[in-house]
Amino acid sequence: MKIFVDSAKREEIEQAVAMGLCDGVTTNPTLIAQTGKPFDVVVKEILEIVSGPISLEAISMDAEGMFEEAKRLSALDPERVVVKIPMTKEGMIAVRRCAQAGIRTNVTLVFSATQALVAAKAGASFVSPFVGRLDDNSTEGMRLVEEILQIYDNYDFDTEVIVASCRHPIHVLRAALLGADIATVPFNVLVKLFDHPLTDVGIKRFLEDYKKIPSGNK
Ligand code: E4P
Repeated sequence: MKIFVDSAKREEIEQAVAMGLCDGVTTNPTLIAQTGKPFDVVVKEILEIVSGPISLEAISMDAEGMFEEAKRLSALDPERVVVKIPMTKEGMIAVRRCAQAGIRTNVTLVFSATQALVAAKAGASFVSPFVGRLDDNSTEGMRLVEEILQIYDNYDFDTEVIVASCRHPIHVLRAALLGADIATVPFNVLVKLFDHPLTDVGIKRFLEDYKKIPSGNK
């Protein structure tokens, strides 16, 4: 499973790259606003650090506007930039036009399997079911991922599934067990993937025992 970093913060993305845990990056307007930097500055920074796909969100609400934005964003780096398009009727018209123009898209704010089916048929490169936000609303987010993977498998769709809105390591675990293509993971969750209290206890004991080894044997 590929891991994308769900962040626009340079320092977080740099650390994830250093840990070998950054196959790509996803951003949204909220994450870019959190950096306190202008959009173009943030994008330039990310392009300097990351070699994989980088999702940048279009904010137009009509298909024509989205397609124009997509062309402008994609021109920043046609190989790496993926344009995030919201799951609306206008959005799917834009996705279709992008696919015809060779621009990769990530359909965002997906909360049902039929939305994911429509996105794949429109020609989306990626689809992002938001599992955490579904969980927040008493609906099992990972069940949606399961359904989407089943549908894409049934019909051999090429669209890759990005498990988005991950809130904790269990979302990442379930994504991997289900065979999702990608999990996009916020930095605070990414670092938790390393943790286990028994690892800490084990390291402490080994270091203490090392001190007991007679100095001639070291
Ligand atoms: C990524 O593509 C999404 O925008 C992001 O995962 C949303 O996460 P949130 O629900 O925690 O805001």
